[in-house]
Amino acid sequence: MYAVLATLTALLLACRTLALPSPHAPLVGSLPSLRLPRADSGCRPSHTDFTSSLSDLYTVVEGEHAITHRGLEMFLDKPHGEVKMDKKTATNDVVGTGTTVNSTYGLTHGKVTFEVSAPAVSGVVTAVILVGLNKPAEMDVELLGGDPAHWQTNVFAPTAEDPRPLFGSFSSVEAVPGPEGLLAFHKYSIDWDAQRIVWAVDGREVRTLPRAKARKDGYEHYPQGEVRAQLGIWDASSPAGTSEWARGPIEWDRTSSRISAFVRSVTVEC
Ligand SMILES: *[C@@H]1O[C@H](CO)[C@@H](O)[C@H](O)[C@H]1NC(C)=O
Repeated sequence: MYAVLATLTALLLACRTLALPSPHAPLVGSLPSLRLPRADSGCRPSHTDFTSSLSDLYTVVEGEHAITHRGLEMFLDKPHGEVKMDKKTATNDVVGTGTTVNSTYGLTHGKVTFEVSAPAVSGVVTAVILVGLNKPAEMDVELLGGDPAHWQTNVFAPTAEDPRPLFGSFSSVEAVPGPEGLLAFHKYSIDWDAQRIVWAVDGREVRTLPRAKARKDGYEHYPQGEVRAQLGIWDASSPAGTSEWARGPIEWDRTSSRISAFVRSVTVEC
């Protein structure tokens, strides 16, 4: 849920200067579906296999990456110099540099499936999300390295009238199948239309949020408008609330100074 904090700020700042994605973004790989896109979706089907390239459909916003036989490797690097841990607040005084990759396309409704292997390091968050282009909105899959047997889902669609920020109001914790948990590749899907959002892992639906249930304090908090896909790995070792949620901070003296998450593929169905 704290991906929200970071991305919202970036989003609000970026909204003024956002360029719309090219309507002619090239398709890569084989199409997962021959169905025509729904008229309202602004969605083009695509399947991107990151074991060969990043493709034109994705662009690195921040950080470092590599294209490997396991797919797109996104790095989180230890900060330069000494990292001071505050045991009382369970935070680090500095956070490492993560990596963020955006899709260059946008969509309004559709199903996006991310095939991801996340590191099982406490304090590290690997997130694959749909994030609003023109207004704040998020539909999230969050993989917390400190809880490798589970994955989290979240929705964030603030209104100007909200009396308070609604972090965690529409989140859930789900089981990751298999003994390796987050470390093994799994397919996490977000399927979004005008009436509901469905999250699935390896094709099995685990959570449905109907639009009618996305209400709080008398206001609807259902994501609307165009979104893009965003992939990222980040250091949740600060501030205290974020670190607590992510079971941080990262103990850099006990882990590699370069931590990786892998995204093997992303599939968009319309
Ligand atoms: C990445 O996506 C976010 C969310 O839409 C946006 O705020 C940001 O400007 C994008 N960055 C680039 C370089 O496209």
